[in-house]
Amino acid sequence: MALLPEPSPEALAHSEAVHRLIAGEIGAADGWISFARFMELALYAPGLGYYSAGLDKFGAGGDFVTAPEMSALFGQSIANQAAQVLRLTGGDILEIGAGSGKLALDLMLELERLGQLPQRYCILELSADLRQRQQARIKHDAPHLLPRFTWLDTLPQRFNGLVLGNEVLDAMPAHLVTWRAGQMFERGVTIEEGRFVWCERPLTGGELLRQAQALPPAGFVSGAAAYTSEINLAAQGFMRSLGQMLEQGLILMLDYGFGASEYYHPQRGAGTLMCHYRHHAHDDPFFLPGLQDLTAHVDFSAIAQAATEAGLVLSGYASQANFLINCGLTELLSRTSPEDPGTYLPLVAQVQKLMSPAEMGELFKAIALSKNMQETPLGFTRGDRSHTL
Ligand SMILES: C[S@@+](CC[C@H](N)C(=O)[O-])C[C@H]1O[C@@H](n2cnc3c(N)ncnc32)[C@H](O)[C@@H]1O
Repeated sequence: MALLPEPSPEALAHSEAVHRLIAGEIGAADGWISFARFMELALYAPGLGYYSAGLDKFGAGGDFVTAPEMSALFGQSIANQAAQVLRLTGGDILEIGAGSGKLALDLMLELERLGQLPQRYCILELSADLRQRQQARIKHDAPHLLPRFTWLDTLPQRFNGLVLGNEVLDAMPAHLVTWRAGQMFERGVTIEEGRFVWCERPLTGGELLRQAQALPPAGFVSGAAAYTSEINLAAQGFMRSLGQMLEQGLILMLDYGFGASEYYHPQRGAGTLMCHYRHHAHDDPFFLPGLQDLTAHVDFSAIAQAATEAGLVLSGYASQANFLINCGLTELLSRTSPEDPGTYLPLVAQVQKLMSPAEMGELFKAIALSKNMQETPLGFTRGDRSHTL
């Protein structure tokens, strides 16, 4: 692995505390936990996990940059999609995993400009630290909108309106499965000489086995080569919960990933697990636990299937570039005059990052799942690829 930046002594001590916590759980579980449990603890253990502790994660001083952090045009474009859903449902907005609060801020300011503010903007956030940052940001940048914001601890029983999540599904703990010589194994984590190491167990039952049996390319089931990939039961379960909650409206999830045929492509035999540490991407999830982000790409076929099983309708699947164009990104850009290059040129650079196939335009997708909505969602009017899932 390339040399990664050294952590500070405090950060190192923090990571050692996370290491002890996970090691303790492995010990208590007879020496083995699933990778999904490892990921859950490393990211979300209260007060210690990567998202739960007070580290800077987003933007230049953190580990990675998400679309809302990159450009206000992202949230402003989504506001046009939100406006349609609010008009049709008269409902509210619920954002899952709101990060620094930037998307919520840009979206609500644009809806205010459009005269279409919802009564409530609810945020469901696992991390107590991020929740505080979101509150501070809204209070500082749009105090007049703060009364419309509500932070939730759990999903509401019933909801009408727009449910939104950017880069949330990829942050949900994924199970790892290896297919080798006709057998299936779950990859988990054990400890050897104080270090985390991989340890496989035969898959003998349950939903993971059922899905693993249905998935990998035939050549790998019978062949000698190993094929490892992820199955995200947590993300599927979350979509089912959203489906049960939604009475009328749209669920819009944006993330990086593909449909199953590309996800489980014969050539993607090492899976999609990625780690982000100070703007370096690498593949060692055991490096400095608690200090780095762990993510797996999203299998949008599995997301669509779980959602439709819960009564939702797949009403759009498009590249981020197509979605944003449909939502009026170019019109938003044209609000700034090229005669003002100091403002205009940075916006053009942001649009390029959001839209270019070499950056976020193609790998990132938007998926829309609806209930009791008659119109095609604005973001999917052209370039819809639902039929590929
Ligand atoms: C990669 S960050 C993305 C943050 C933000 N949406 C953005 O685009 O900048 C993932 C976010 O999802 C949150 N998250 C993950 N699983 C969640 C869950 N089950 N419920 C609520 N939030 C969750 C994390 O705490 C974090 O805020």
